Amino acid sequence: MDLKNPEYVKSHGLMEGRSVLVTAAAGAGIGFAAATRAAEEGARAIVISDIHEGRLDSAVQKLKHETGLEQVFGKIANVAEEPDVQALIDFAQEKIGGVDVLINNAGLGTSKLLIEMEDDEWHRVIDVTLNGTMRMTRYMMKVMKARGQGGVIVNNASVLGWRAQKEQAHYAAAKAGVMALTRCAALEAAEFNVRINAVSPSIVLHPMLRKSASQELLEELESREAYGRAAEAWEVANVMMFLASDYASYMTGESLSVSSQRG
Ligand SMILES: NC(=O)c1ccc[n+]([C@@H]2O[C@H](COP(=O)([O-])OP(=O)(O)OC[C@H]3O[C@@H](n4cnc5c(N)ncnc54)[C@H](O)[C@@H]3O)[C@@H](O)[C@H]2O)c1
Repeated sequence: MDLKNPEYVKSHGLMEGRSVLVTAAAGAGIGFAAATRAAEEGARAIVISDIHEGRLDSAVQKLKHETGLEQVFGKIANVAEEPDVQALIDFAQEKIGGVDVLINNAGLGTSKLLIEMEDDEWHRVIDVTLNGTMRMTRYMMKVMKARGQGGVIVNNASVLGWRAQKEQAHYAAAKAGVMALTRCAALEAAEFNVRINAVSPSIVLHPMLRKSASQELLEELESREAYGRAAEAWEVANVMMFLASDYASYMTGESLSVSSQRG
């Protein structure tokens, strides 16, 4: 494989017969790529959610069209709102006959020097990124425990949970929190056959991110990678599929870096 220009990897049936729920999957990034990958890997039914209604409808149609999977459903849900979280998981339970795999993809970032950051901005990022992942994990654990068939949760953290970057104190703190949440929740969930792991990607430059961040910063981030490029969203989705599959049966509570970064 050419590491600078990788070819799309074919499917291996890792999600054969599973039902999958993915949050924040109507964008151009990892969420939609994970839903696509799950379908290609043989998932029998998928629920995708997002806060953006128009994009969610198109994402459902696109997913059906591109993968040929009929059992794809969309549900608007803001992970920062507990009633939305419960309604989403209840909807998925009913629509696809129980959730086998939850991909907690939703996260929110902004850029601000800490000395200029207002409490509101700090709280907003923590609330979607950390608290949202906690809310989804907490309710999903309850539901998976009651269902009694085990399950898998894959959280989306970030290398910033380990590393430092200017203007990212809030987001980095939230992602470090996602890793800690993953470790502790996994210990509790093992008692009812639920595994919980996280991926920690370095950088995925999808079109929406290219529009919102400065070109200079994006080039600097790419240049830090050993491959000299950002990851494709599907390269992160592949690692999510591995963690969600039985190949990762002896992994829980782990955060796996998806990165070619030096140091
Ligand atoms: N893109 C990167 O370089 C990168 C790197 C490391 C980690 N991550 C993490 O990966 C995840 C996905 O990010 P992405 O950049 O690939 O974009 P993405 O396309 O996967 O996600 C963006 C989508 O999230 C939705 N969303 C935003 N707030 C929401 C909320 N409160 N509830 C539900 N949906 C919401 C948006 O409407 C948008 O459609 C995030 O958790 C992000 O922090 C991204």
